[in-house]
Amino acid sequence: MEYQAKELFAKHDVSVTLGIVANTPDEAKAAAEQLGVVVVKAQVQAGGRGKAGGVKLAKTPDEAKAHAEAILGMEIKGLTVNRVLIAPAADIAEEYYFGYLLDRSNRNYLCIASVEGGVEIEEVAKTNPDAVHKISIDPLTGVDEAKAREIVAEAEFPEVLVEQAVVFAQRLWDVFVKEDATLVEVNPLARLADDTLEALDGKVSLDDNAEFRHGDHAVFEDKEAADPLEAKAKAKGLNYVKLDGAVGVIGNGAGLVMSTLDVVAYAGEAHGGVKPANFLDIGGGASAQVMADGLDVILNDSQVKSVFVNVFGGITSCDAVANGIVGALELLGDSASKPLVVRLDGNAVEEGRRILAAANHPLVTLAETMDGGADRAAELANK
Ligand SMILES: Nc1ncnc2c1ncn2[C@@H]1O[C@H](COP(=O)(O)OP(=O)(O)O)[C@@H](O)[C@H]1O
Ligand SMILES: [Mg+2]
Repeated sequence: MEYQAKELFAKHDVSVTLGIVANTPDEAKAAAEQLGVVVVKAQVQAGGRGKAGGVKLAKTPDEAKAHAEAILGMEIKGLTVNRVLIAPAADIAEEYYFGYLLDRSNRNYLCIASVEGGVEIEEVAKTNPDAVHKISIDPLTGVDEAKAREIVAEAEFPEVLVEQAVVFAQRLWDVFVKEDATLVEVNPLARLADDTLEALDGKVSLDDNAEFRHGDHAVFEDKEAADPLEAKAKAKGLNYVKLDGAVGVIGNGAGLVMSTLDVVAYAGEAHGGVKPANFLDIGGGASAQVMADGLDVILNDSQVKSVFVNVFGGITSCDAVANGIVGALELLGDSASKPLVVRLDGNAVEEGRRILAAANHPLVTLAETMDGGADRAAELANK
């Protein structure tokens, strides 16, 4: 969210005013009493808040309270506004755009800068492409002073702002690198009436893969917006993504799970258009506990009507997986209440099938092939 992005900016000495976060209209009023003329700003993890009516100027504390009343609870791009930032109103002369991002196709970093900021940069890129400057950045040298000067010259910042912009470009680069971000965006970077530069908005995407070295980033997760099943899966260390269908899917290996989703969606066409309910990769060591955790998450999805377990035994052999399924059903007891179609193949498949057949669990059906299993699971989900 903007206020969190601004906290990161401040940590790296980027010129920014923090403001005060408010959760209620009364807190908004109290904040405005301290700050004077303010802007009440919806805090959600999405852009385009201004356009959606989520950014409003308030000249008095009562006005701030009224705006907060209107903005809190508002939906912006499907996200409910639970808090507002009360930011001191800036005296804006001009609005610029400045961002760093990972440029995957060119395998390096990219700076995008434009003195035509404020509005959506995608819009400027369409209507006035020459005003959007893209400067590639060598990952090994990054943005040193020379590079910063090159960016500022290329983007045609006004002469009086050049020295400030050079400092800004380097400090924002610090945010990008030191926080392990994949995107840092400032829109608007404002030229204030007194010719100072200030970040009035901020958007940062952090790289999840670097989470392990940023314990302090955990607070940025928007728990209110997270799907409760996804949150539960995450707490259990499962690789789970909630989808919209009725066939729960469990597999091992991301590739196999992805193709299972395709096969289930395809099979579902013959059964009332049922679709996969989730992505869940239980990885290599499919122990009873991991299987139980996975089933527990999926069976608690009220949209799920049947489950397709599709496992290819490699390093983990099928007998271990079969024992995992039997153990999981024992662990779950009565809470396992939906039919399970299991397809096993690969290492020790005969033994795996024998274990499942011997357990003879009333909810479990064995399938010989992936297509057959998907078809059966789709059929059961459509009943
Ligand atoms: N502190 C502020 N003071 C004055 N105007 C502001 C302030 N913050 C934002 N604005 C104005 O509101 C517009 C939209 O706000 P912004 O933070 O960029 O939200 P979004 O990008 O989600 O629409 C900005 O382009 C700017 O013109
Ligand atoms: Mg903005």
